[in-house]
Amino acid sequence: MLYYKDMNTKLLIFGITGDLSRRKLIPALERITEGGHCDNLEVIGVSRREVDVSMLIRDERLAARTRVMQMDIAEEADYHRLKDELALAEDEQLLIYLSVPPSASGRIVQFLGKAGINTSRVKLMLEKPFGTDLESARHMAEQISEYFEDEAVYRIDHYLAKGMAQNIVAFRAHNALFAHVWDNSAIEKIEVNAFESIDIEGRAQFYEQTGALRDLVQGHLMQLLSLTIMDIPGDMHWSQVSTRRLDALRQLQPVDTRAAIRAQYEGYQDEVENPGSAVETFVSIKLESGAPKWTGVPFYLTTGKALSEKRTDIKIHFKKFHHAQTNCLIFRIQPHEGIEIALNTLKPGYEYEHEATLLSFKYPAEVVLPDAYEQVLVDAIRGHKHIFTSNDEVIRSWEVLQPLVSAWAMHDSCDVVYQKGMSTEQVIALAKEQK
Ligand code: BG6
Repeated sequence: MLYYKDMNTKLLIFGITGDLSRRKLIPALERITEGGHCDNLEVIGVSRREVDVSMLIRDERLAARTRVMQMDIAEEADYHRLKDELALAEDEQLLIYLSVPPSASGRIVQFLGKAGINTSRVKLMLEKPFGTDLESARHMAEQISEYFEDEAVYRIDHYLAKGMAQNIVAFRAHNALFAHVWDNSAIEKIEVNAFESIDIEGRAQFYEQTGALRDLVQGHLMQLLSLTIMDIPGDMHWSQVSTRRLDALRQLQPVDTRAAIRAQYEGYQDEVENPGSAVETFVSIKLESGAPKWTGVPFYLTTGKALSEKRTDIKIHFKKFHHAQTNCLIFRIQPHEGIEIALNTLKPGYEYEHEATLLSFKYPAEVVLPDAYEQVLVDAIRGHKHIFTSNDEVIRSWEVLQPLVSAWAMHDSCDVVYQKGMSTEQVIALAKEQK
């Protein structure tokens, strides 16, 4: 089916009263409608309880185009009622957003399919986690593919939807200078970092089943890496980005389990009330690609909670000809979105000394980048799939990480315990001391 920009759209949200919906979806929808985008949008929430829309949505424009239908999502018969209620017209598309625990999504997809809410005008938006290991991811994919073509499935990785993540592609594609040096002839190593200062913030049940490897590395960091190392031919169109990312993921070798660091912040076990918990709140892994252009270039993916700062960035380290050279290009994904290149320049004065400075690109202060969830919703409405993850990408990412998932399942403790507020360097130093 052909989607056009401002097609009449019904957005059906399962879990409209939930935490994610209140924190991310509704504010994103408010900003979209405020900006006068997607005027042909109607929102239908699904909730077990009766809901007063005006209590849920403050923005009057959005509230006016929103209604909430009461239904039991575990009751198959209610989906037939839902279909009638939706009454999808010929020129309308339906976007179904599942903002529900992963344990509930399989059954919802099945009931939607059985009720016939899976025609070619229906798109299904899914939140991670997409499985908890390779096997469960494959199982989930099978369940969904029974009722929805992969083309109709929009798997959200909100890191891919961050403005600076897509800027990696624009930067690489449209600046000849860097295209010349984007391989192992010039690059020594690449770091992909997502440090968080928050701890698990009371999400004990979720985090005990997840941990940092599944929560951040499997999706967010692997995707940022693939944007950084994928091939970008001169005539590439945005619609091909997802396939290019998949090609890059396919070239990755299985993770080196011996080089991985698994750490937990002190106090985590009390917080989750599980004295024996081995769940990692910090992880650092090393990956390598089998592609000839990347031979010998290690990729380090690191993330952790309760660290000294909130920072997501990608650092490209170039090979030096001598030690006094600078060699780093940084994509600042958040905060302070921008691109920086470390430079040495001559210091003003008579002494012919050099000093470190920065060549930097930043959006002007008055520019407000769309929030990742705004981008996700607008792109799904418009049928732009390149900021969504395909099933093949999800599976490939699990294949690369599965050796570590299996190895860690055999160990009943983390390698390192770190203090809240430590820097990443301190945690890595602790891990090295203990190896
Ligand atoms: C989510 C994780 O996907 O990303 C959270 O489940 C994490 O644990 C969050 O805190 C970080 O997102 P952001 O956009 O704040 O970096």
